[in-house]
Amino acid sequence: MDKVTVTAPAKLNLSLDVTGTDGRGYHTLDMIMQTVSVYEKVTVMPRQEGIVLSSNAKYIPRDSKNVAFRAAEVFFDHSGISAGADIYIRKKVPIKAGMAGGSADAAGVLVALDRLYGTVYGTEKLMELGGRVGSDVPFMISGGTKRVQGTGDVILPCPAMPRCHLVICMPSRGVSTPAAFMNFDRLGKEVPVDTRALMDAMARKDIRKAALFMVNELEEAARSPDTRPIKEKLLATGALGAAMTGSGAAVFGVFDDDSLAQKAVEALKEDYRSVYLAHPVSFGARVDRPLRKG
Ligand code: C5P
Repeated sequence: MDKVTVTAPAKLNLSLDVTGTDGRGYHTLDMIMQTVSVYEKVTVMPRQEGIVLSSNAKYIPRDSKNVAFRAAEVFFDHSGISAGADIYIRKKVPIKAGMAGGSADAAGVLVALDRLYGTVYGTEKLMELGGRVGSDVPFMISGGTKRVQGTGDVILPCPAMPRCHLVICMPSRGVSTPAAFMNFDRLGKEVPVDTRALMDAMARKDIRKAALFMVNELEEAARSPDTRPIKEKLLATGALGAAMTGSGAAVFGVFDDDSLAQKAVEALKEDYRSVYLAHPVSFGARVDRPLRKG
């Protein structure tokens, strides 16, 4: 095999509840996470030795500061395969958005190397390897709708998000995750998050009800000045609910009506450059099927 390309979807937090701390400087969380149709493309080619990472995005690190690079190191360490990889990342997911673009790349690298080198680890094993490089990576491999707890290590089933349209808006300034958690510690808990009610509404395929329970406890702590205006614009244009994702700064709105979602995109584009129209998907990072010849 001379190359493998993986499609790696971004994620949104349909809800985020901070439940405590783990004693190692991390916060424990209870989240409903959803992969969405905004995709990174990760292409991996074999190399005799060394890991070489390149991308269309100039701003991402090309060395072990990048989780995708570290994912490749973990793969070679664990498998004992003495070879290398050429990794090309076509970035679409904004950075510092709370959409786990970097973790999607790491997930993509693991899935691609598993196919390229024929290790056939399977999803569980790849998720375990992913957990060694970043807390969001295991979910980015499994994908779909999941309840994720701990620091990302506990992944539980969740009723699938009903079909809907998602309008995602990334303001020009991102949010640093450590800063958001530090602010949270100062502010304390203030927003009740009813994860159970969100899951129940999704089990009944009631997107209107579910959207009302999409709440992110880090919203104030992220201190992104654009969160409120984006939410207001989404709700004014017909969103059933709107919330920030992860530790910010992207904000999404849920629509059951296609034309309203389109109108919301147009309205937001007046003020913001990065606006996406997406939908929930049921998969995580996965190998593209080669095009059939003839
Ligand atoms: O996971 P990531 O490396 O992006 O996290 C950066 C920092 O954010 C951590 O070092 C920690 O201070 C904070 N954090 C946290 N709890 C989490 C995730 C991140 O406190 N669950």
